[in-house]
Amino acid sequence: MTTAMPTTQPSATPTDEPTAKPSATPTNQPSAVSTAVPGTTLSTVPTAKPSAMSTTEPSTVPTAEPSTVPTTEPATPAVTDRPVNQAVDHYDRFLAEHYTWMLGGDLDALAAAQRDLLAQWGVVPGSQDGSLAVDLGCGPGHTSLALAGLGYDSVLAVDLSGPLLSELAAHARDMPAVRPVRADVRTALPELVRPGSAGAVVCLGDTLTHLPTRGDVAALFADVTAALAPGGTAVFAYRDLTVPLTGTDRFLPVRATEDRIMTCFLEYPDDYDDYTVVVHDLIHSRDGAGAGADWRLNTHSYRKLRLSHAWVLAQLRTAGLRVRHEESGPGAMRTVVLERACEQPR
Ligand SMILES: C[S@@+](CC[C@H](N)C(=O)[O-])C[C@H]1O[C@@H](n2cnc3c(N)ncnc32)[C@H](O)[C@@H]1O
Repeated sequence: MTTAMPTTQPSATPTDEPTAKPSATPTNQPSAVSTAVPGTTLSTVPTAKPSAMSTTEPSTVPTAEPSTVPTTEPATPAVTDRPVNQAVDHYDRFLAEHYTWMLGGDLDALAAAQRDLLAQWGVVPGSQDGSLAVDLGCGPGHTSLALAGLGYDSVLAVDLSGPLLSELAAHARDMPAVRPVRADVRTALPELVRPGSAGAVVCLGDTLTHLPTRGDVAALFADVTAALAPGGTAVFAYRDLTVPLTGTDRFLPVRATEDRIMTCFLEYPDDYDDYTVVVHDLIHSRDGAGAGADWRLNTHSYRKLRLSHAWVLAQLRTAGLRVRHEESGPGAMRTVVLERACEQPR
């Protein structure tokens, strides 16, 4: 996979997509999620320690559970349905049970490795940062566990997947700093975090590309700037899938063990614009590893944004964030470590 930019690079300012943020009006939550996940009401969400910038902020937080999950969606959205529903559906119905396995299988080992990476990137609680960290699109929460291990007093772990939040809650039983919250990352920061109070905000593992539009991504960057405390750090990691893969390069092996094999297939259908790709996940599994065990194939598809690195950097700058460090990794993964720019962006 290459990270070269296509000549049809989207402009820095998306004009062809809705930029309006979703309504924060709480909707009826599936009871299994709200009861299974501790910390889903805002009364349990840590409000950051008072910081220099938080003194003028409201001293209370709302008590309603935030969510933009619609209540009228069909049971199994197709790939043409609204992307945020596709993402939620994809994880809740298909990928959540395999997600930790997909990453290697051992959440605590993943957390330990993530802790080292975060420390390398300078994501450590500092005396002036405040000690709130936010993990946007936390998944099973290895990064949230790592942030707690690094010493953040409160780690707000935000995701829309009930099963993944439950997995994190089980692992974080002895880590009261970790607060799993079922909320949409597009509204979580303004609703749950006082402006200027977060020592760290991270959004890792390609969560950004799950958002419905590039306008949502740009708006999220602005929310992160507003949430960061002076001296705080933001980290985004996402795949730049702007260059379409062709032929058999579109089949991406993810992981294979004796009883499970995961493959990804990327499709660029004609009815989608240049900014999206349809991801087909294929998981073969069998009960037991013996020669007689039959393989089953389960598949599920969803849509992702194709974000060019140049576009992301331009939006980060516009949002008032300054790059401190950048990395490229396998699978066109890009990691950007940032701080709030002192001056307002021009
Ligand atoms: C690719 S996973 C990344 C998980 C984790 N950050 C990691 O590094 O492995 C994307 C996660 O984002 C969540 N997600 C997608 N869209 C979301 C949204 N609008 N609000 C909250 N979570 C969302 C999914 O449920 C999923 O857990």
